[in-house]
Amino acid sequence: MAPTPTAADKFSFGLWTLGWTAQDPFGSATRPPLDNPAAVRKLAELGVWGITFHDDDVFPFGSSDADRQKAIDDLRAACDETGVVVEMVTTNLFSHPVFKDGGLTSNDRGVRRFALRKVLRNIDLAAELGAKTFVMWGGREGAEYDSAKDINAALERLREAANLLGDYVTDKGYDIKFALEPKPNEPRGDILLPTLGHAIAFIDSLERPELVGLNPEVGHEQMAGLNFTAGIAQALFHGKLFHIDLNGQRGIKYDQDLVFGHGDLHNAFSLVDLLENGSPNGGPRYDGARHFDYKPSRTEDENGVWDSVKANMSMYLLLKERAAAFRADPEVQEALEAARVYELGQTTLGEGETADQLIADRSAFEDFNADAYFGGKGFGFVRLQQLASEHLMGARG
Ligand code: GCO
Ligand code: MN
Ligand code: MN
Repeated sequence: MAPTPTAADKFSFGLWTLGWTAQDPFGSATRPPLDNPAAVRKLAELGVWGITFHDDDVFPFGSSDADRQKAIDDLRAACDETGVVVEMVTTNLFSHPVFKDGGLTSNDRGVRRFALRKVLRNIDLAAELGAKTFVMWGGREGAEYDSAKDINAALERLREAANLLGDYVTDKGYDIKFALEPKPNEPRGDILLPTLGHAIAFIDSLERPELVGLNPEVGHEQMAGLNFTAGIAQALFHGKLFHIDLNGQRGIKYDQDLVFGHGDLHNAFSLVDLLENGSPNGGPRYDGARHFDYKPSRTEDENGVWDSVKANMSMYLLLKERAAAFRADPEVQEALEAARVYELGQTTLGEGETADQLIADRSAFEDFNADAYFGGKGFGFVRLQQLASEHLMGARG
C-alpha cells in the first residue's frame, strides 16, 4: 500500500494535465472538459498541495476582461477554500494559430510583440496569485526546415525576451523566478533549447541569469535518449533546478506524458533517490514542488483521470520509501563503499597541490601500477545495481 499524500509532500498538478480531454492529432476528444474549481476541490481531497496552469487553461484565448476576471475569481475561491496554492504559472504560446511559427521567436515581429504582451499580463496574474515560479516552455519556438529559421537570430530574440522579463519582475518587485523547459521536438520538428544542457548554456548568456533556471521534464530528456537523473544532477550542480515536471516515457518516441514511474522505472527510482536523499557525496538539494505534467491516457473516462492523479503520487511515495530503504541498508552502504562511490567525493589533488608537485609525485605515475586494472580491481557496480533493483522491487527490507 502506498502512503497517503499530504500537503507536506508538495505534490502539484497542472490543470491542463487532468483537464486534458484526450484530443490527439488522430482523433477527437474522449472526455468532457473538467470544471477547474471542482477539480481543485477534488485534488485537495486527494492530498494535493498545489496547482499550476497556463493562462488559457483558466480563461480561453480572447476572453473578455469580465469573463477572464470571473474565471480567476472562481479559481481563487476554490484555492482559498481548500488551502491549495498556485505554485507556478505559465503562458500558452502554442495553441492559437497566431503562434504557428512560435511566440517569442516567430519570424513575424508583430506576433513576437503580441506574445510578449501575453506573457507580461500573465506574470502580473502569477504575482497576484502568489506563484513563485514562471515556466517558459517554447514548444512552438523552432522549425521544421533549416532554411526557415535563423537560429542565431531566434536565440537573440529569445534572449531579448528573457532579459525584458527579468527587468519587468525586478522593476515590479515581484518574487518570481523563471524556469525554462527544454524539449527536443513536438510540436515543432526541432525546438530551440532542446535539452537541459542547451538551456543552461543559454541562461549563462542572460543579463540576470540568477532569475532564470530550469523546469526539466522526465519525458523530454528521455525523448532525446538522455538520462534524466543525470541531467537533474547537473541542473542541481549549476544551481538551476527551479522546478520539475514529473511523468513517464518509454524510449525515444513521441512525448508520451505517462504517469510518473510508468515509463523507465529504474530511472524514476534513481531520480526520487536523488531528489529525496541528495547525491551520495552531498551537493545542492531541491526542495521545490513535486509537479506532475502528464496526460491521463486517451482510453480513460473521468474515473481513470482521478486514478491516474493518485497513481502519480503513489508511485512517487512508493519510490521514496524504496529509496530510503536502499540508502539505509548496511549492505548497500558497504557496496557503495566497495564501488568507491564515496571516493569520488575526495579531491583529486591534495590541498594547494600544484601541477609541478603532481609531476614530482612518483606514486601518481612512475610507480603507479596501471596493469593491476587488467583482470583485477573491478568496481562492483553490477552488484550495487542489483541491490538497487532488489530494493526497487520490494525484495529487500
Ligand atoms: C509537453 C510540455 C508542456 C509544458 C507546459 C508548460 O508535454 O510538451 O511539457 O506540457 O510543460 O505546456 O508550458
Ligand atoms: Mn511532455
Ligand atoms: Mn512539461
